[in-house]
Amino acid sequence: MPEIATKSGCVSCHAIDKKMVGPALMDIAKKYKGDATAAAKLDAVIAKGGSGVWGTMPMPANSKLTDAERKELVDFVLGLAK
Ligand code: HEC
Repeated sequence: MPEIATKSGCVSCHAIDKKMVGPALMDIAKKYKGDATAAAKLDAVIAKGGSGVWGTMPMPANSKLTDAERKELVDFVLGLAK
């Protein structure tokens, strides 16, 4: 996990290879593999939150993260499928 994920509290709900409160980051990477709009979609979910894609638990918004920090997180997550 990159430090930004630990610092931002992502790790309290996400692990790399197993489902916790949120889906495993590796499963997210696989789901969006080959989707050219994935980076923009996930960036929006991290910023504003999301729900209904993986189950009934919502993903909280992270309004304090900068564009660069969200990009680092999105690149990290999508990179797991490679
Ligand atoms: C309170 C628990 C919680 C925290 C904290 C959390 N998440 Fe999530 N996350 C979830 C849940 C639950 C989902 C599934 C939402 C859904 O079904 O649409 C999710 C979904 C996601 C998705 C997939 C979105 C989609 O539409 O497929 C990504 C990417 C993600 N989280 C990244 C992060 C990152 C990065 C952080 C830290 C900044 C973070 N999450 C913090 C619970 C959390």
